[in-house]
Amino acid sequence: MPIEDLAGKVAVITGGASGIGRALADAFAAEGMKLVLADVEAPALDQAVQDLRDQGHQVMGVITDVTSPDSVTALADDVFAAHGAVHVLCNNAGVGPPSAKVWATTANDWRWTFSVNVFGVAHGVQAFVPRMLASGEPGVVVNTSSPDGPISPMPQASVYACTKAAVTVLTECLDAQLTADGATVRASVFYPSGKGLLDTGLWTSDRNRPDVLARERPRDTPAMTVAALHARGIPIQPLDELARLVVDGIRDGRFVMILPSDQTGATLRTRLDKVLRNENPTEVHELG
Ligand SMILES: NC(=O)c1ccc[n+]([C@@H]2O[C@H](COP(=O)([O-])OP(=O)(O)OC[C@H]3O[C@@H](n4cnc5c(N)ncnc54)[C@H](O)[C@@H]3O)[C@@H](O)[C@H]2O)c1
Repeated sequence: MPIEDLAGKVAVITGGASGIGRALADAFAAEGMKLVLADVEAPALDQAVQDLRDQGHQVMGVITDVTSPDSVTALADDVFAAHGAVHVLCNNAGVGPPSAKVWATTANDWRWTFSVNVFGVAHGVQAFVPRMLASGEPGVVVNTSSPDGPISPMPQASVYACTKAAVTVLTECLDAQLTADGATVRASVFYPSGKGLLDTGLWTSDRNRPDVLARERPRDTPAMTVAALHARGIPIQPLDELARLVVDGIRDGRFVMILPSDQTGATLRTRLDKVLRNENPTEVHELG
């Protein structure tokens, strides 16, 4: 459902304290939206809320763990009590687990990554969509996926790719159901991508990993960093361009939000051709 005038509307962003979520907050604030940032990392959340308030924006911060249905329901309670409506829900919180071969990915790696990246999105949908529908206001649920999974999975990050494929399918089903019901709320899938690396906290996701789902074995390769990859000549994709894409996508009522690129089309066509030839469309490509 297009929402042409965003001024005064309410946006909730999970994982809003850093990286892409923070860039979305800046872009929505520039449109005059009322913001709710939800994040598990308290110091970063406090800082983001303070920065936005200092710039004169209306923003509240709610400590939220998206892996907990109770925590996300409490978030929805707070938001509807404060604002009475939600027009844009960005289920954006996500983590990147250690890379490992599928057979070497440990149970806690699977559990942690799915609990944030997939269950976190499902909890957001369950806590907010019934109330968004009941309000009668126009709304959109923007779920952050990744090209790594539904478009072109990186086998070396297999568990992450699996979660993002799940987010895309969840969102396609959700939007199909809302459309079939003639609802005033729709869903969109957002693919952060572009002409290079995204310099966000995803590379240090372990900072938010709970002890109960701790690594079962130390990593056997050094952690890759944005700086190291950038030093190999890979450019950095500006996050504000991605956030702008989401604002434009909400205004235009786009289901898919992805920066235009010839590479995406070529990748999808090559994959389709391989599937139709009964071949595996996925191959290992090293970064940089
Ligand atoms: N960085 C990339 O290259 C890239 C590419 C495509 C998609 N994405 C996706 O973008 C989204 C945002 O990631 P980012 O790159 O900005 O990383 P980030 O680490 O900067 O932001 C993720 C945010 O999620 C929060 N978070 C983590 N666990 C949480 C939990 N249990 N409950 C609530 N909040 C939690 C973190 O504190 C952080 O603020 C993720 O879904 C990620 O998978 C990232």
